[in-house]
Amino acid sequence: MRGCGSRLVWLLVLSLAWLGPALGGEDKDEELIEEEEKEKEEDEVLSDEIKEEDNVLVLHEHNFARALSEHQLLLVEFYAPWCGHCQRLAPAFAQAATELRNGSSPARLGKVDATAQTALATEFGITSYPTLKLFRDGNRTHPLEYTGRGIVRWMQRRAGPSATLLQDTDTITAFINSQDLVAIGFFKDLKGEAAQAFFEVAAEMVDLTFGVAEAAELFQAYGLSDDTVCLFKKFDERQTNFPVDLARGLDTAELTRLLRVHSLQLVMEFTNEVQPIFSAKIPHHMLLFLNKSSPEQLSLRDSFRAAAGDFRGEVLFVVVDVTGHGADVLPFFGMTAADAPTMRLVKMKNNRKYQMEQDNFSDSAIRTFIQAVLDGKVKPHLLSAEPPEDWDTQPVKVLVGKTFEQVAFDETKNVFVKFYAPWCPHCQAMAAAWEELAERYKDREDIVIAKMDSTANELENITIHGYPTLHYFPAGPGRKVGYKGTRDVETFSKFLENGGTLPEEPPDGVILPHLLEDHTTVELVAHFLKVIPEKSRNVEGGRGNKMQVNGQRAL
Ligand SMILES: *[C@@H]1O[C@H](CO)[C@@H](O)[C@H](O)[C@H]1NC(C)=O
Ligand SMILES: *[C@@H]1O[C@H](CO)[C@@H](O)[C@H](O)[C@H]1NC(C)=O
Ligand SMILES: *[C@@H]1O[C@H](CO)[C@@H](O)[C@H](O)[C@H]1NC(C)=O
Ligand SMILES: *[C@@H]1O[C@H](CO)[C@@H](O)[C@H](O)[C@H]1NC(C)=O
Ligand SMILES: *[C@@H]1O[C@H](CO)[C@@H](O)[C@H](O)[C@H]1NC(C)=O
Repeated sequence: MRGCGSRLVWLLVLSLAWLGPALGGEDKDEELIEEEEKEKEEDEVLSDEIKEEDNVLVLHEHNFARALSEHQLLLVEFYAPWCGHCQRLAPAFAQAATELRNGSSPARLGKVDATAQTALATEFGITSYPTLKLFRDGNRTHPLEYTGRGIVRWMQRRAGPSATLLQDTDTITAFINSQDLVAIGFFKDLKGEAAQAFFEVAAEMVDLTFGVAEAAELFQAYGLSDDTVCLFKKFDERQTNFPVDLARGLDTAELTRLLRVHSLQLVMEFTNEVQPIFSAKIPHHMLLFLNKSSPEQLSLRDSFRAAAGDFRGEVLFVVVDVTGHGADVLPFFGMTAADAPTMRLVKMKNNRKYQMEQDNFSDSAIRTFIQAVLDGKVKPHLLSAEPPEDWDTQPVKVLVGKTFEQVAFDETKNVFVKFYAPWCPHCQAMAAAWEELAERYKDREDIVIAKMDSTANELENITIHGYPTLHYFPAGPGRKVGYKGTRDVETFSKFLENGGTLPEEPPDGVILPHLLEDHTTVELVAHFLKVIPEKSRNVEGGRGNKMQVNGQRAL
């Protein structure tokens, strides 16, 4: 079932962050393979000779083994000639291949036309284009998934030591001063397990610079006695130490999380570069909305900052300038610039928003409020529009947050509700069918066909995850039935007549589980960017109507 993702603006901004580079520079989407789209090309190449295009090895069944034996570190792109994302990736891929080659790195890039090389596509289980796999030391059976952002750095970290060895105090001081943020692992034994785990973390976190130190004088210089990872920054607290637990060893996932959390500034600014805010995956965001041109409002940042330290990793503190980039997210909070200064806490898991009964900007009031939300003692603040005067005069009844319960939970009525977003094309596409359904049942006392604009109305116990969402609330106490059938009037009608079930549920088509997570669709992003990038045409039409875009992968 096609639909628009529901993550509203605050989260959409996150989608933007994830998709941003794709819209501008590096491509990072993939297209799912349509079985019928596969075309077999006839011109088979039989020799194991390896040709190159723009420093990218052109690989096929007959030279693949040779490429693996000759190149210790080989990143292979499996592509389809018609795939738009692959075409957009091509220049960046060739550029990366050239840079790596020029830098005399052992890392090489190759490509396989997976539509022609079906044996290779099958062997490596290619299910979407483009797919990138890293082959190490000629190992053909266990390629690694590409997990990076930025091919060159990702490959370089794998080719050489992922952290620079720092031998003396001068080098280490210069290294720390060279960047705003560096992580240095101090290990008594660089061959030990903890150090090896640290190198693994460094290989993955390509956006952070890593060093390692082993010399006793360096332990001493930084006041350390045991294995410790230190994060040095030119802001906030300057140095944060993460001692390695001697009993448990170094947990790579935990170290990665700590480094991400502590790499962030204690209080972030909401700017057009939002990726750091969202990519750290901090479960709550505490937002201070203010008008930066007003000195009194600006001074509120101090107490806001004073409250932030206690919640590090759990709550991210963000200052949002309502006269700057922050203006874009105000509608998501049902606010205007005139509401500043004010604060909101967002629970990222379900987009619930919380606010103080009365804003109090003192640091202790902020701490108390946040703790109360974390302890589940504060009810979320739900958006609701005012009910329109004529809400029940048309066949389709118009519900808002405030009136929803009264209408939908009326135990004498069978209520069928469409939750929609005004801008969502899938909602627009089904609007006529919904009207027609309502027209058909307008004389039935026991049936109500209704709609609610979910961008302006929120409900306590129903979270809408995609647009449109259809729920049926049959007469009787406390039941809710999700509708999963096709969106046409006959099927709706059958569903109603049948008391909220369909005789046979239609199969779900080509949607894969990861697409159901609907983090982002290009349509949403395009809508908010007010641009319609080429990609959104791929979503709807392009080659093969069922093609879908998954905007989560990054290169
Ligand atoms: C190749 O490397 C040289 C020297 O490191 C550099 O000046 C040049 O710009 C590089 N060329 C490309 C295409 O990256
Ligand atoms: C490939 O890597 C896997 C996992 O590391 C390993 O088990 C396997 O033995 C390797 N195969 C070869 C041929 O080295
Ligand atoms: C922001 O503050 C400045 C200075 O006090 C004021 O002139 C401006 O109108 C304010 N903007 C908004 C949107 O409230
Ligand atoms: C704000 O909270 C602080 C501490 O919780 C309290 O002392 C102060 O009176 C409050 N201010 C207002 C205006 O309510
Ligand atoms: C939401 O669920 C809670 C807990 O089950 C219940 O107490 C509350 O009445 C429900 N609210 C609405 C509007 O149905």
